[in-house]
Amino acid sequence: MNKFKFGMLSIVSAAAAVAAFGLGAQPKTIADGVYTEEQAAAGQPVFEERCSACHNADFYKTALSNRNNQPLVFLFEEILGTMPMDMPGSLMDEDYQNILAHILSITGFPAGEEPLDYYGGSMETVVIIPPES
Ligand code: HEC
Repeated sequence: MNKFKFGMLSIVSAAAAVAAFGLGAQPKTIADGVYTEEQAAAGQPVFEERCSACHNADFYKTALSNRNNQPLVFLFEEILGTMPMDMPGSLMDEDYQNILAHILSITGFPAGEEPLDYYGGSMETVVIIPPES
């Protein structure tokens, strides 16, 4: 019974993945303008106050490279759940979103028209690719 349930679940999530990425279509990546200028600008002061003491831009380049091909939401939830190291989860969700936009901006990824929208699911369909060094 359990086995059957598990099987059904996998089929459902496989179908969801196909729906998200389209059959054979190239998935959207962080190079496709997945955050807005406004978000990155709003994220900068919070980032400088709460993140810069421990990490520089190169650190985030490595973090992105290490997560090649993963959905962006994985990185977001990791940051949301564990950072800042000295006070995890202490910022507003919107701040975390703006900080991620700022991180994409300082690692060389372009802004676009659509904002990062965690609750709207926009990060689930975007995959990480390594920055240019
Ligand atoms: C007090 C120091 C400190 C602060 C402040 C801090 N971090 Fe971290 N962060 C760490 C440590 C320590 C690790 C885990 C060890 C490592 O990967 O260097 C880490 C890991 C990470 C990772 C995962 C790196 C990887 O590739 O595994 C990310 C992404 C990250 N931090 C982002 C942030 C962001 C965004 C902020 C601000 C909201 C922040 N950090 C604030 C200390 C800090």
